[in-house]
Amino acid sequence: MAKKKINIALIGSKFMGRTHSNAYLKVNKFFDLPVEPVMHTIAARDPKDLKKFSARWGWENWTTAWKEVCQNPEIDLVDVGTPNHVHAEQAIEALEAGKHVVCEKPLAGTLDDARAMVKAAKKARKCQTFVWYNYRRCPAVALAHQLVKSGKLGRIYHVRAAYLQDWGGPDTPLLWRFQSKFAGSGAHGDLNAHIIDMARFVTGDEISEVVGSIEQTFIKERDLLEEAGGEIRGKGAKRRKTKGKSTVDDAVLFLTRFKGGAVGSFEASRLSTGDKNRNRLEVHGEKGAIRFDFERMNELEWYDATTDGKCQGWTTINVTRGDDGHPYVGSWWPQSHLIGYEHGFINQASDMLKVLGGRKPEVALPDFADAFETQKVLHAAIESARNRCPIKLSQIK
Ligand SMILES: NC(=O)c1ccc[n+]([C@@H]2O[C@H](COP(=O)([O-])OP(=O)(O)OC[C@H]3O[C@@H](n4cnc5c(N)ncnc54)[C@H](O)[C@@H]3O)[C@@H](O)[C@H]2O)c1
Repeated sequence: MAKKKINIALIGSKFMGRTHSNAYLKVNKFFDLPVEPVMHTIAARDPKDLKKFSARWGWENWTTAWKEVCQNPEIDLVDVGTPNHVHAEQAIEALEAGKHVVCEKPLAGTLDDARAMVKAAKKARKCQTFVWYNYRRCPAVALAHQLVKSGKLGRIYHVRAAYLQDWGGPDTPLLWRFQSKFAGSGAHGDLNAHIIDMARFVTGDEISEVVGSIEQTFIKERDLLEEAGGEIRGKGAKRRKTKGKSTVDDAVLFLTRFKGGAVGSFEASRLSTGDKNRNRLEVHGEKGAIRFDFERMNELEWYDATTDGKCQGWTTINVTRGDDGHPYVGSWWPQSHLIGYEHGFINQASDMLKVLGGRKPEVALPDFADAFETQKVLHAAIESARNRCPIKLSQIK
């Protein structure tokens, strides 16, 4: 019997436009899915670029009219891959039109927008929502989640997370990512969002309090770009000579308590010189510990404190053994044939399509309500930094 088709419309055709297009293009080739994804329509703002993008990635249609896309009765799933300030408007339009929605992270630039999205998702009962917290779907992170869930770490004492990049120096122009009206925040919503989600996912616990926080903008002014909104990530962007104000953080660091009693530290920076995409998570428990670093994404470090002390030490697990039950990799290559950044997105596309076809995802997928928990932590950390006080998560509704 022919599989049910899921017609997908993607809004946004630049960085995430490429990762998502690649995911929809490949997912059906590697995963056995209950439904068939169809790359129906790509929407964004620049018609010249869109035509080329659509032809290159195999989209059936392209348009600059995203609202029409949301209303198109042929579309089943709307994918929001645009800057943070439009997530709410686009996701809500799609949900009200009865579409399933997957949105890029952070859920929104502001807590108010995120709350409105959760409300719309609750109202649209037949619609599924998902959020692209793609690092959950690195096999090593999914394995860490499974190990903690199976009790291998026992009681958790410490969570240490840092997401460090260094592309935000003074030569980088005023992209939308440096303007709070578009991005909401800087490194915080961009990078801390990921590690908050990973920490929640791996520990299975929730943050109960932000105890203290620092928000720092080192570079206060940047070159203006010719293009409104500044969609280009840096190199090759046409600049004007005049400067504009950066209205977001370059770095945010904060300390937390978890409901289960663990303590945590989180750090995000775009000015961590030498670190390109250093997304790290460390969790220490009474029976063992794990360490993950995205720059070595195929590996999970594991310490088993329950074995004979003479033989204890960190073990590096190459998380490529599909036959032995490592998550996702059984659909890819033989062991030690490594995978990369794009696979997290393809793995997530496979889980979303499984759910839309009535099956279970390999590991839990974040929906809007789940991503709102991460958004609350983002909000609490900024409130804590600005008011120089601890913030209990129960204060944030
Ligand atoms: N999951 C991840 O690892 C990851 C990585 C990077 C970015 N992101 C998130 O993805 C989203 C997009 O980031 P990006 O890096 O792809 O940005 P980008 O600037 O590279 O691309 C933005 C795209 O959105 C389109 N766009 C902008 N405003 C629009 C509007 N009003 N209507 C329709 N289209 C519009 C632009 O034409 C462009 O195609 C952001 O929310 C960002 O936080 C996630």
